Amino acid sequence: MKGVRLPRIDKDPELHEMLKKYSRLSYGEIWTDKISGHKVGCISVDEQEAVRKMFGAEKAALAVHDPPYNMVAFQQMSAEEFVQWSFQWVMLTNELLSKNSSLYIWLGADQKNNFSPFAEFILMMGKTPFKSRSFITLRNQRGYGTQKNWMSVRQELLYYTKGLPVFNIEAVYTDIPKAVKGYYKEINGVLTENLERSKSENIRAGNVWIDVQQVFHLMEENVSGCFAQKPLKAIERIVNASSAKGDLVTDFFSHSGTTLLAAEKAGRKCFTIDVDPVYCEITIRRLENFRKYGKAGWGTSNPFEEEIVKDEELQEYLFQKYKIQITNFL
Ligand SMILES: C[S@@+](CC[C@H](N)C(=O)[O-])C[C@H]1O[C@@H](n2cnc3c(N)ncnc32)[C@H](O)[C@@H]1O
Repeated sequence: MKGVRLPRIDKDPELHEMLKKYSRLSYGEIWTDKISGHKVGCISVDEQEAVRKMFGAEKAALAVHDPPYNMVAFQQMSAEEFVQWSFQWVMLTNELLSKNSSLYIWLGADQKNNFSPFAEFILMMGKTPFKSRSFITLRNQRGYGTQKNWMSVRQELLYYTKGLPVFNIEAVYTDIPKAVKGYYKEINGVLTENLERSKSENIRAGNVWIDVQQVFHLMEENVSGCFAQKPLKAIERIVNASSAKGDLVTDFFSHSGTTLLAAEKAGRKCFTIDVDPVYCEITIRRLENFRKYGKAGWGTSNPFEEEIVKDEELQEYLFQKYKIQITNFL
């Protein structure tokens, strides 16, 4: 099946219902991976007891959370409500992280609305045991609002720690060669130039990541139907820098399963949850697809390609609503 992308599942409740029947998890259930021990739970982060139970006695070295802050943008929750809600899951994260661990949070800032909920959120984080470490910006290639404003090309990523977690310095280098020479420093009586002193010929990512491409439909890692997929390269960087092989990594808002896939690729174990059975299914399928075909996503196809070919009701629906024709799939 080539060239057929699913429309956004979150915007189409009927399509969502049709795909739900292919989800192996019902709400409240947990899938355990027999190969690497990953877990995918169809649980709301608000069900704290269920999340604790999923972890058992295990603690994670790293949490990478990407909450649905678009609820604020769509005015479904005020910034204050969002932050009160977030405080609960941040404190749960604190409980489930080990003594020396890292927490990364992807967070939006609505520039049309006082950069909400950014300010409220970082003030709330000050009331938790986490220590602020870095405010990372991902520089997207494409943006919006170019005519009467500075093009919006940033994605915010907050980095917090507790205790003394690992930070693997070799994981922070990009593929971009160092271009600037001429910073001299005396080392043991010898004047050296910065390139001689460097550990690498390439620059470090620093806290402005300019070398990560945001996901779009022509990329292999694209998971059509999902609307908020984060770049795998960014999460792999986080996992490689802030955890060690064999560590447990967690993500409370799995969606397309990017953190789980990054953990699998890096030899870590991942416990992840999503409130929605369809995204849980996509998360599991993404891992299985990667193991079977070595692919990070479905590019211009979709995670339900085998079912769509057989499901006439779904085919009819996609044709009537989106003019997607099954013959295109074959
Ligand atoms: C912004 S997306 C995460 C994107 C993810 N980082 C990726 O790369 O695909 C947020 C996800 O949170 C899920 N979600 C919303 N409310 C939730 C809740 N109360 N508990 C757990 N998951 C929730 C949504 O279903 C959605 O899939």
